[in-house]
Amino acid sequence: MEWTPMADKVGAEATGVDLATIDGEELEALKALVHDRGVVVLRDQTLTPEQHIVLAERWGGIDINNYFPLQDEYPQIAIVRKGADQQTNIGGAWHTDHSYDQVPAMGSILVARTLPPSGGDTLFAHMGAAYDALDEETKAEIEDLKAFHTADHVYKEGGIYAHTDQGKDLRGQDVETGAVHPVVIRHPQTGRRLLYVNGSFTINFVGQSREESLPLLQRLLAAALTDDNQCRVEWKPGTVAIWDNRTTWHNAMNDYHGHAREMHRITLSGDALAA
Ligand code: SIN
Repeated sequence: MEWTPMADKVGAEATGVDLATIDGEELEALKALVHDRGVVVLRDQTLTPEQHIVLAERWGGIDINNYFPLQDEYPQIAIVRKGADQQTNIGGAWHTDHSYDQVPAMGSILVARTLPPSGGDTLFAHMGAAYDALDEETKAEIEDLKAFHTADHVYKEGGIYAHTDQGKDLRGQDVETGAVHPVVIRHPQTGRRLLYVNGSFTINFVGQSREESLPLLQRLLAAALTDDNQCRVEWKPGTVAIWDNRTTWHNAMNDYHGHAREMHRITLSGDALAA
């Protein structure tokens, strides 16, 4: 496997890898690259749904998303779809998947199945670089903080998606979620310190109300999104992206109205997080 950086601090494009057969030391090297760079893009892959599932199982197991529609034949595969007639996309704001679970998913393997003629890129930001760039005073302020995360305001009955044209496609309106994680975690594999709050699912710091939490939370969210901390995945037929939810946030661009986009996502099992 060879790779080149997608941007200075985040992302890698890897070549010389066939995801349909990867195993052993080569798979371990790919995992390490995903943990470190946050997202790895692989082009010209020919993964069938069965091979997509085998890859995820080899990686370390599957954590089925509560909300996205699932493939009838392969319920391990979630469908991330925006139809040509829909206005709202899935994941169209900065977030990290499953932070509302006490043991959040490690990451995802996203396979492009239907792409618009242009647009529909996905942006990634590196939370290790975001943490490193904070000033020492802010680092001290968040050192021992924990935060509460939930998805209830997003997916539950009456939640954000219920008011959009995605509402009818989603599942799990009765699922309740809630988890507490340190604001600064150590990556379970690399040991790197990472900022672990996000704009979609982090509600408040433990011991503070939402209103008390907002000024610092918004400051952290803004500080994490510098241009030099981001990369852009441009999808093509055969592109697969594998990302680490601890190392990165992501944001799916919604700039292709009138065209369909369908991606197949398997969410990978993760670890409990610690400071
Ligand atoms: C997501 O998993 O949040 C969606 C990513 C994408 O569709 O590019």
